[in-house]
Amino acid sequence: MLETILITGGAGFVGSNLALSLKERSRQSQIFCFDNLNRRGSELNVPRLQAAGIQFIKGDVRNKKELLALPRIDAFIECSAEPSVLAGFKDPEYMIDTNLKGTLNCLELARRDGSGFIFLSTSRVYPMETINGVEFEEKETRFDWPEGLERAGISYQGVSEELSLNGPKSLYGATKLASEQIVTEYLAMFGLKGVINRLGVIAGPWQMGKIDQGIVGFWVMEHLFNGSLSYIGFGGRGKQVRDAVHIDDVCDLVFCQMNRLEELSGGIYNVGGGRANSFSLLELTRIVQEATGTSIPIASDAATRPADLRIYMTDNSRIRQATGWAPKKSMAEIVKDTVSWAKANESCLKDMFGR
Ligand SMILES: NC(=O)c1ccc[n+]([C@@H]2O[C@H](COP(=O)([O-])OP(=O)(O)OC[C@H]3O[C@@H](n4cnc5c(N)ncnc54)[C@H](O)[C@@H]3O)[C@@H](O)[C@H]2O)c1
Repeated sequence: MLETILITGGAGFVGSNLALSLKERSRQSQIFCFDNLNRRGSELNVPRLQAAGIQFIKGDVRNKKELLALPRIDAFIECSAEPSVLAGFKDPEYMIDTNLKGTLNCLELARRDGSGFIFLSTSRVYPMETINGVEFEEKETRFDWPEGLERAGISYQGVSEELSLNGPKSLYGATKLASEQIVTEYLAMFGLKGVINRLGVIAGPWQMGKIDQGIVGFWVMEHLFNGSLSYIGFGGRGKQVRDAVHIDDVCDLVFCQMNRLEELSGGIYNVGGGRANSFSLLELTRIVQEATGTSIPIASDAATRPADLRIYMTDNSRIRQATGWAPKKSMAEIVKDTVSWAKANESCLKDMFGR
């Protein structure tokens, strides 16, 4: 394992879990987590990181000088972002500066040190109209793609890397796709080694879920802390579908990629829970009700929010073929682990989110 690892967005959900998992697997590694704590709740991760011997640095990826002041690093995992699609409507500048210019600044540090580069991208790089334009069926508890569906890049199993990237994808998706392209150029031009993971919904402990990002964590916390929920969009019946991957499975994959970076370099991979871990909001409610023993009223709002998707599921074929990786943890385990975490941290989470 490499010696010095930098994780930008390192106090966030993915970054902090990765840092702790990598430290656990490779105690001799020096790990730096760099984060401006823009995400509400990320500050709760700082003492956890420090207790594990990980160095936290408060800093901003928009500021190249702050990044270039860091010591020499061997491996870079870029997890900083404004990850909410809806945030891009409110503050496009912050999104572009962080998600795109921030990536460029990170690449400059990687270029300085010749470090490996793992970029956390998103399934939202795929165009909305193409995905929403696919024929679908309405079943009792969910919308679904027809079983025999076979389009270029979309099948019953999910979206593959073959799907055309042409068309609007939200500012969030666009900043990530533009970053991907610059990452690819840096790998080619400067001989860096790196991979790009296009992730679907990630979930599990320490996700500070909110209405516009982190749906599983949000659903669990609203149930546990007497909150309120609504089925929003696509008729307001909770039938829209996503797939979720457990954060532990993402940590396994990144660890594998770091160890095989030379061989995997240049790869772009869809990564997600896949059909087996797909759920509609209605189905998520039932899983959360079972895990929490609680039921709360859920309102309905028929109007679809801008940039929303009716169905998204990941076709993991390429990453499975390249690495043998496949998600191990089921939807029920994802929810169970999230519930256990939220219960164990009830007082600070209630304070944080005012529930
Ligand atoms: N969570 C998901 O479901 C999901 C899905 C697909 C892709 N991703 C990607 O994974 C990565 C991590 O996402 P996450 O779920 O951990 O989100 P998160 O919001 O929990 O973590 C992102 C971290 O980046 C930090 N940050 C924001 N702006 C910054 C800036 N200008 N400078 C430094 N730090 C800054 C935030 O404070 C936060 O701690 C992101 O790139 C995101 O786009 C996440």
